[in-house]
Amino acid sequence: MHEMTASNLRSSYGGESMAAMRYTVWASKAGNENLPNVQRLFRATAHSEQIHAWNHFTQLANVPGNATVTAGAGFGLAKTVDHLEWAAGGEGFEIDEMYPMYILAAEAQGEKGAVNSMKKALEAEKVHLALFRKAKAAVEAGGDFEDTPIHVCDVCGFTMHGDAPDECPLCGAKKADFITF
Ligand SMILES: [Fe+2]
Ligand SMILES: [Fe+2]
Repeated sequence: MHEMTASNLRSSYGGESMAAMRYTVWASKAGNENLPNVQRLFRATAHSEQIHAWNHFTQLANVPGNATVTAGAGFGLAKTVDHLEWAAGGEGFEIDEMYPMYILAAEAQGEKGAVNSMKKALEAEKVHLALFRKAKAAVEAGGDFEDTPIHVCDVCGFTMHGDAPDECPLCGAKKADFITF
């Protein structure tokens, strides 16, 4: 694998791994604030980010060794409404800045596996951003996120809200491959 794409994938792996942990902590805080549906949203998105990290990691299977990983890392513990804002900000960065440029570089280098892994993540992040914004508006209005199921594709991390799909629109995985939160 070309070094620039490998480096970008490692950074993406780092970013997704940390997002998964950050969302897991923020899920717990939402539970403490008696916002069970926001808690569920953070748990679902944490699982999605874990799948992205997993897929980026496995794309790097043939590039073994230690590496210093530099990735954007959001910190802070405040109120759930703040966590939703920070989560949306992180997703927005991945959507507008990070993945489009990493994907362009990987395409230029002919790294199809990396392109695929990052494009899958990018599409899921767009859904995450929309759900975080919706949840933030609900919490600001004094309520909780809506009580409808969130489905995460266990193969590619795609995230859907509402009815369970028959297959993943992104990777074609079957209904049974979705985890519902
Ligand atoms: Fe995300
Ligand atoms: Fe999928």
